[in-house]
Amino acid sequence: MNSREQALDNALIESIVTQTVDELAPRGLFNFNAPRQTLMGEGAILKIGDKLRQLGASQVLVIADRVVHEQGLMRSMERSLERAGIKFTIYPCITREPDETLVASATELLARNQADFVLGFGGGSALDAAKAIALAGTSQSSLQQLAEPGFAGRRVIGLGAVPTTAGTGSEVTDISVIMCADRWHKFVIKHVDLMPDLAIVDPGLMLDLPPLVTAATGIDALTHAIEAYGARSSHPLAKALAICAVQSIAEALPIVVGNGGDIAARLTMATAAYKAGLAFSNSGLGLVHAISHQIGARYRLAHGIANGILLPYVMRFNALVCQREYAAIAHMLGVTRTGMTEREQCMASIDAVRQLLADLGLPGNLAGTNIHRDDFAAIATDALADVCIRDNPRNVTEADIVTLLEEACGNKNNL
Ligand SMILES: NC(=O)c1ccc[n+]([C@@H]2O[C@H](COP(=O)([O-])OP(=O)(O)OC[C@H]3O[C@@H](n4cnc5c(N)ncnc54)[C@H](O)[C@@H]3O)[C@@H](O)[C@H]2O)c1
Ligand SMILES: [Fe+2]
Repeated sequence: MNSREQALDNALIESIVTQTVDELAPRGLFNFNAPRQTLMGEGAILKIGDKLRQLGASQVLVIADRVVHEQGLMRSMERSLERAGIKFTIYPCITREPDETLVASATELLARNQADFVLGFGGGSALDAAKAIALAGTSQSSLQQLAEPGFAGRRVIGLGAVPTTAGTGSEVTDISVIMCADRWHKFVIKHVDLMPDLAIVDPGLMLDLPPLVTAATGIDALTHAIEAYGARSSHPLAKALAICAVQSIAEALPIVVGNGGDIAARLTMATAAYKAGLAFSNSGLGLVHAISHQIGARYRLAHGIANGILLPYVMRFNALVCQREYAAIAHMLGVTRTGMTEREQCMASIDAVRQLLADLGLPGNLAGTNIHRDDFAAIATDALADVCIRDNPRNVTEADIVTLLEEACGNKNNL
């Protein structure tokens, strides 16, 4: 082969290699998004000033739950920020689940304050509000724009989260749930910049959480873990976090409801909510959340209560395609015996969830709510449009949701 033929040969090989690489499609990839920094454990809040200084914060806007503020739970944070020389403004505006109007007014405050860091302090309501304010405020966008698929705006200031409930996992998710101005629908916004830069998780802030809120928020965390474990987009890392969270919740949730002052059990629950949050933020949820976003807004049902009611009904529906997953969950809930078939284990997991709800004093059906049969079709339509539906492991139709709602209404006779 002469040198000209050799050059042609090389060019041909090069073009075949280029074409082959261009046609390669990666398979089975998954992203894993988490806060840059986490500080977790009893007394973690005392270190918040140091952490914020490391992150370069100098002027912090704190979006806080009003009850938490009035209870004096923010004093340690205030002292730590003072000692670190960080200026801050506390806006204790969260008195219920946040809505569009609240986000708009706090966004104006953010601009006036010239804050370079937003910190959410409270339950999921305060954290979700802080996250939406930071992204909407600095990208100068409305919530409608944030909720549009492919929204390209960016958050250009810091974001931190201090949870005072162990449930939503919002401190480690790239999600914010905000009520529309009509307080009838919810925006479920997912964006990479909604992931906080810093999570400070201190079980000492959760000791006075009332038993009913402790139970409802804990069941929210359990729902995250179970939905993330079975989600279509789940993957080994999310599954490992989710299954581990189920085990911790089974162990610690009854204890924190019965004895809220048990700091070790509170830490176990806070860690479980964190793990479940990371799991679902990186894998997806399912039908429980798709429906609960609708009925929570319409009938003023606390998020965890709505999830708890729906969870066993949705598990029964999904069991057709999730037998193996639910059998593993039964194992973590401690309700398997030798000799049980996988199907028996799967059904045992559903019974165990029902029993846990009863033990915690949470409602097991929708009978005590204002839900009405006339609304079922609209709820089903909206649930099918919810971002959470796409990760439900079983295909769902409007008729399936209506049937499920009828089942979940139990013996309600005023439908
Ligand atoms: N971003 C996410 O990934 C995500 C996930 C699930 C749910 N959510 C959203 O989170 C919100 C619910 O959050 P939540 O369940 O944490 O409830 P919440 O923040 O609404 O708080 C519930 C109640 O507990 C009180 N409270 C909070 N901490 C307390 C404490 N330490 N001591 C005493 N009282 C305390 C609050 O004042 C409030 O009355 C809903 O809007 C839901 O849609 C978000
Ligand atoms: Fe949730």
